[in-house]
Amino acid sequence: MERRGFIKTLTSAGLTTLLPAGSLSMAISACASKNQTAEFDFDTVFDRSGTWSIKYGRATNGEIPMWIADMDFATDPYVKAALSARIDKDVLGYTTTPPEFIDAIAHWMEHYHSYQVDREWISYAPGVITAMNQAYLAFTNPGDKIIVQPPVYDHFKLYIERLGRIAVDNSMILENGQYRMDFEGLERLIDHKTKMLVLCNPNNPCGIHWDRETLAQLADICERHGIIVISDEIHSDLTLYGVRHLPFCSVSESAAKVGMIFSGPTKSFNLAGLTGTAFCIIPDQAKRNQYVSWLKNCKLEEPSIPTLLAVIASYRDDTRWLEALKRYIEDNVERVVDFFSTNKLGMTAHRPSTSFLVWIDCRSLGMPQDQLMARFKDGAKIILSNGASYGPGGEGFVRMNVGCPRSTLNQALERIAREFGGNNS
Ligand SMILES: Cc1ncc(COP(=O)(O)O)c(C=O)c1O
Repeated sequence: MERRGFIKTLTSAGLTTLLPAGSLSMAISACASKNQTAEFDFDTVFDRSGTWSIKYGRATNGEIPMWIADMDFATDPYVKAALSARIDKDVLGYTTTPPEFIDAIAHWMEHYHSYQVDREWISYAPGVITAMNQAYLAFTNPGDKIIVQPPVYDHFKLYIERLGRIAVDNSMILENGQYRMDFEGLERLIDHKTKMLVLCNPNNPCGIHWDRETLAQLADICERHGIIVISDEIHSDLTLYGVRHLPFCSVSESAAKVGMIFSGPTKSFNLAGLTGTAFCIIPDQAKRNQYVSWLKNCKLEEPSIPTLLAVIASYRDDTRWLEALKRYIEDNVERVVDFFSTNKLGMTAHRPSTSFLVWIDCRSLGMPQDQLMARFKDGAKIILSNGASYGPGGEGFVRMNVGCPRSTLNQALERIAREFGGNNS
């Protein structure tokens, strides 16, 4: 975006009123230099030790950590400028959710995901998983069943069970290297205790985006059985290779009736350490009222100043940083897919259509999962996510986080080649 457009973005996002004098020009010069170079730096390797990083905390023996889903890239300079400018102000008092927050999300959904959302449908959510947990509490009772579709993000099942609900697996079907939902299986396992289904849209760890037909069919089944669909769309801004994300509630009237979307810029703008950069979209008024009052009753409806700023600054018109990031991730993905297909190590990388997580099929090595993970950690000295943790169908797989500088990725692949090359026993 040109310089004038950039100023307009700041103004329309309300940041001019939030930033102290001088900081606007600082933010503008950060962007102006981006305009000049027209490129962003994803190659610098940052030392994340001593930064309280969960990812690096596990790497105590020189391993390269490629597990938990945050990226090793510097935060977008625009978002950083917005945050520092406000934090440098003297007073950080109690803060309300400003209309600019809702506007930024509505604008983003319309322009980035072609989904026209009524502003009333949007509200702040205290982190995607925290907010989903609140939905389980608000809409189901202990002992009720909630369906998940593994392999899928492990924290769905973890918290469903911790909160006294029953997680029921409707496993995806893997055929000819492609995953699809098992609708027949779904119809078979629904009973009177089944109250909810958690959809990972797009799917982590398999990197799948869902097409309209699939989402609409899922919505029809759920509407027929009175089941609420919780659609986790946290990876949706990171669609690769020109793929378009379809917000669940946008696909049909049934989907708008049964669906609740939970999302945020946490993954796309690498903001996981600012816990709570999230929102929900609930088109159905009765569900929305029930959910929003639940959050209020738990005093969970108040975002922090950094959260507000991060969301507003991320969801702007100027998407060049995000687009550059996605090109960089695509190159990393291609490097990994190529590496496994040319090196014949007995492993195959699925090419994700979304996000920076690569799902790697190691089943033909025939190794027990513990041994496989130990070979990666103690032998190759890289830490990956354990496929088995994502539920049935995840055994024999690992998930590799490629949201890292190219040099880090190359080093990891060299280590894998050294460990597994010629000796898979
Ligand atoms: C599918 C999915 N949902 C939610 C989260 C976490 O979201 P939050 O940090 O907002 O709770 C993750 C993090 O990896 C994820 O992959």
